[in-house]
Amino acid sequence: MIGIVTLTIFLHSFLSVELLRIQGTWDTGQQFFHFITKFGFQKTLLQNQLETQGYVFGNISSDGHGSKTYTFALLDRGYFLGYYGNSSLIDRNKACQTMFYKIDSIAYDSTCNDEGKEDFLRKVPCPVSEVCVDEDQPNNVIPGSQLTFAVQDLIQPRFV
Ligand SMILES: *[C@@H]1O[C@H](CO)[C@@H](O)[C@H](O)[C@H]1NC(C)=O
Ligand SMILES: *[C@@H]1O[C@H](CO)[C@@H](O)[C@H](O)[C@H]1NC(C)=O
Repeated sequence: MIGIVTLTIFLHSFLSVELLRIQGTWDTGQQFFHFITKFGFQKTLLQNQLETQGYVFGNISSDGHGSKTYTFALLDRGYFLGYYGNSSLIDRNKACQTMFYKIDSIAYDSTCNDEGKEDFLRKVPCPVSEVCVDEDQPNNVIPGSQLTFAVQDLIQPRFV
């Protein structure tokens, strides 16, 4: 299956907006794990939360071949290192288990972990012309996109 990824990563401040736009395909037959990019977001200001937080939004869909689902993960540096470090394990089951060990306890999932505090994961590809299945509050999705993450940190800049 070839996944089609269009993501726009967005940092908004009063004077300027910096963004990164990524478009590409991922051949899941070649690689079980694909690193897309990293980006830094400014510290969020409590009094201007909507304007100063960051946004990651876009579409991840497939060419229709194959019905497997994959996980799109947006991770802070602290979670990323163990996740990425374990992605090189030869045994894929072991790799997946260790990659998700730390994240699974904290990532929100409406069916598996509704106590999870962090919005880190989306099941992809998302259904064609619809928002992703994990977007349980479609009003929070930026129009014309299938997924949206709001990135905020009131204490320091956040790197994902
Ligand atoms: C692999 O994952 C385990 C469990 O989360 C973690 O303790 C370990 O540091 C990770 N290994 C690497 C090389 O990052
Ligand atoms: C992205 O998905 C939305 C559905 O939520 C759709 O309306 C839009 O056309 C798609 N955009 C692209 C570039 O595929």
